[in-house]
Amino acid sequence: MINLAVNNSMKTHHMIECPCLEQIQREALNWIKQETDLLTSADEFWNKIDYKHFILLNPTLALYCTKTLKLIIREVAVLVAHSPAGVPLHTDEPPVIAKMNFPILNTKDTYTEWWDNEQLIDRVECTQPMVFNSSIPHKVCIGSTAVLPRVSISCMFYKEPIELLQADLPSFAEAQE
Ligand SMILES: [Fe+2]
Repeated sequence: MINLAVNNSMKTHHMIECPCLEQIQREALNWIKQETDLLTSADEFWNKIDYKHFILLNPTLALYCTKTLKLIIREVAVLVAHSPAGVPLHTDEPPVIAKMNFPILNTKDTYTEWWDNEQLIDRVECTQPMVFNSSIPHKVCIGSTAVLPRVSISCMFYKEPIELLQADLPSFAEAQE
């Protein structure tokens, strides 16, 4: 993995340890199935939802963010890819920079790439929760063995965890030593 520090010495992403990920995935998928048609079709990759209702029926996610990460959710989006074309290079709308993405369904062999002009600066398989730097141009790539639809959620917080994207921050495992 390349993982170079880029402009203003920020990292592209920071992996997060999440022992309750499977339960978060179950609750999120139940909500998406019951409240939306996103698993059948989605016009856009980025789908705004009634996040207050979502949080109500996703207590594991809410508790994990509040108690473990000390972050209060301000908004949640459901990110859905039905096409192997993925998502072309873009930068998310400001002002939010540090979002937290959780893999929900079929994220194996799917990747986020961050680019600086013509140069690939980082690439990561989206199988683990991560703090995500959405201010650096990025794209989603779908591998040849990936299963569709591919679903993840993106959480935004009142106080965004920007410090977790500092270039000199040790990995979670190093921090636990
Ligand atoms: Fe994005």
